[in-house]
Amino acid sequence: MLRFYVLSVLVVLGALTVLAAVIGDPGWWALLAVLLLLLAVGVHDLVQKKHSILRNYPVLGHMRFLLESIRPELQQYFIERNFDGRPYDRDTRSSIYARAKGENEEQPFGTERDVNEPGYEYLVHSTRPKEPLKDVPTVRIGGPDCSRPYDMALLNVSAMSFGALSANALTALNAGAAIGGFAHDTGEGGISPYHRQGGDLVWEIGSGYFGARTDDGDFDPHAFADKAADDQVKLVSLKLSQGAKPGIGGVLPGAKVTQEIAEARGVPQGQKCVSPSYHRVFSTPRELVLFVARMRELAGGKPAGFKLCVGSRADVLAICKAMVEEGVTPDFIVVDGGEGGTGAAPVEYEDHVGTPLTEGLMTMHNALVGVGLRDRVRIGASGKVATGVDVVKRLVQGADYTNAARAMMMAVGCIQAQTCHTNTCPVGVATQDPKRMRALDVPDKTQRVVRYQEAVVRQALAVIGSMGLDGPHQLAPHMLRRRVDHSRTESYAELFEHLEPGQLLCQPPDSWALDWAQADPDRFVP
Ligand SMILES: Cc1cc2nc3c(=O)[nH]c(=O)nc-3n(C[C@H](O)[C@H](O)[C@H](O)COP(=O)(O)O)c2cc1C
Repeated sequence: MLRFYVLSVLVVLGALTVLAAVIGDPGWWALLAVLLLLLAVGVHDLVQKKHSILRNYPVLGHMRFLLESIRPELQQYFIERNFDGRPYDRDTRSSIYARAKGENEEQPFGTERDVNEPGYEYLVHSTRPKEPLKDVPTVRIGGPDCSRPYDMALLNVSAMSFGALSANALTALNAGAAIGGFAHDTGEGGISPYHRQGGDLVWEIGSGYFGARTDDGDFDPHAFADKAADDQVKLVSLKLSQGAKPGIGGVLPGAKVTQEIAEARGVPQGQKCVSPSYHRVFSTPRELVLFVARMRELAGGKPAGFKLCVGSRADVLAICKAMVEEGVTPDFIVVDGGEGGTGAAPVEYEDHVGTPLTEGLMTMHNALVGVGLRDRVRIGASGKVATGVDVVKRLVQGADYTNAARAMMMAVGCIQAQTCHTNTCPVGVATQDPKRMRALDVPDKTQRVVRYQEAVVRQALAVIGSMGLDGPHQLAPHMLRRRVDHSRTESYAELFEHLEPGQLLCQPPDSWALDWAQADPDRFVP
């Protein structure tokens, strides 16, 4: 019925306008043109079959598409409160921008967060705080089999490949890492010319082995050794999974494999390039551990490790058992939380697959403690690390250092438009469109990356000082508390179980015994 009214109104208005134009001002013809256009749109809407809403609501139905298209902006600019935007709330984003610009980012009046809500977490300060450390501490990565250890900053640039990020974004990130003295993970897309601004690289390979890949998609040890020998590459990393999409691989269509991308990945230009959901180089925990040791050997003794989003605890324990039996350990393990980011992933995976960082990190930390190997392996943590408190919390939960991906994107100008998968990033960060990428001024954004990383680490050290500690090494689980209900808070020491060094090897506690018994170094148990 409504469509009948809409079209009738247009016809009647059209007739009246013709009359007005004939007997009055000729300017009415312009209005007639508009009405005819709307009539044509209305007729088109009625006959097209793609959108039911337009068939029922011709012309008017377009309002829905218009409003839908600007919904994220409306939400972000007018509706979202300072503390409830997702994935990063406005307070966090503003603090990243302010720190990156070197502006005063202090806030007036007090917290807007509900400190009485279950889940709220806070750090325990001291009555006798200490001056924050002046010398910024680093974390030495390199177990007994590593001959070229690396001193890792407390906050580094997490893996984001060339292809996901623009050339300009990567250039600014790597140049920032070079100036600020922190590490930059290449992501699984290989080492591109834009990674070559002098910043220390963690060279990551995923199941596609880009940059070290044979023609049929297998791992090429010669190509790997060749590239790993590069002086800018300080560590090598095997990506097992990513929090936003654990358990799936990826396909880059041939059309997107440009000459530059082909060169960075070491694949033929214009041909479809697949990274499978599983690795060819290992199928058991033991083979995984031995492969990482081989990577270290091929890399001339540089630290080698892996990155994963934790799945089953029995898998983690199986990997640890393999380390114990083989007597070899990775130099580092990066735990990525299920809340982590991605350039593109199915919503099922983003929202419902993968252990959140808190639980994943504490599982990995405790498993390594439980098998007595924690002192040989450094743990990195990634998953929405954006502020000094995020760094401190992750250190309390068992990490030695942290990585940030999306916060670093924001430091180079990302506005959380969430269009990374469409190639239409409005600020040139996550796009391969040269016109959009031009918007990102590399020298300016380089400085922002440096300032942001430095400010976050300084804030982390300030908080550690306020907790009455001499440095990150004194952080302990009882210093982080969580509100569990409206009348009680508990510390992480009470909330979670913490294993004693070597405890799993002699007397696993009941709560771990089943997983420990199931953990098999020669098989991943589904
Ligand atoms: C645009 C984008 C691309 C990414 N590409 C990779 C990648 O190539 N390899 C990888 O291991 N992780 C990748 N990640 C995941 C990040 O390295 C990181 O683990 C995850 O986003 C959690 O950190 P965040 O919460 O600070 O973003 C990517 C993330 C984003 C946002």
